[in-house]
Amino acid sequence: MQERPVTIDLAVIGGSGLYNFPGLENATRQRIDTPFGAASGEVVTGDFAGRRVAFLARHGESHTVAPHRVNYRANLWALHALGARRVVGVNAVGGIRADMGPRVIVVPDQIIDYTHGRYTSFCDVEGAEVRHVDFSEPYTGSLRRQLIAAAGRAGVPVIDGGCYGATQGPRLETRAEIARMKRDGCDLVGMTGMPEAVLARELELSYACLALVANFAAGCGDEAEISIEEIFAHLAAATAEVPRIVGELLKS
Ligand code: HPA
Repeated sequence: MQERPVTIDLAVIGGSGLYNFPGLENATRQRIDTPFGAASGEVVTGDFAGRRVAFLARHGESHTVAPHRVNYRANLWALHALGARRVVGVNAVGGIRADMGPRVIVVPDQIIDYTHGRYTSFCDVEGAEVRHVDFSEPYTGSLRRQLIAAAGRAGVPVIDGGCYGATQGPRLETRAEIARMKRDGCDLVGMTGMPEAVLARELELSYACLALVANFAAGCGDEAEISIEEIFAHLAAATAEVPRIVGELLKS
């Protein structure tokens, strides 16, 4: 892999409910052209807690890009090209495990991928060398540990570990699908965790996920139906904690 200058201390990919990074100072915006097309929007780079932070809204700043249409390759490529080495993906999720209810924050350690039809590799370009990356541990252990320690210092409770099941969306799942995912060992369900994590691995980026629980997944809570208004209310509460966690993370 080609050496790049380290110009960004941390890149944050914001999910549903996180469309800009509050408190970024001296911010500049860049539209990065990539061999894989356009990223979800401009990358905003600025100073936060005395460090350089790049922020990209995964669904676009007006939430116009659906999970199955996100150009994950362009997003990761753009952050890599800007010099990011560490990336935290912030993802809205549904909780499957009983202790992962609304507003809980989880740093997952495993993934099961149920998505389909997405570009999952940088290697499927004519003539590109095929690489089979190790993905036994889909998130970077050191960054996960730093993230958990940072949340502790920030006084924000987080759950260490859990299996993220990535679904295709944009619809929510049926109760039967969630029951199957539970049997498979999933603790959380979200629509954007993959292929983001594996593309980060291919680019040799450190990558960890901050999963914000917006609702109990289908059939896991008391409600017969999941209300989108409630999802966004819970997300807003959990999202408000993100800058404090990131501020502490930047100290490590
Ligand atoms: N399922 C999938 N993705 C989600 C959910 C859910 O219940 N909640 C927030 N993102």
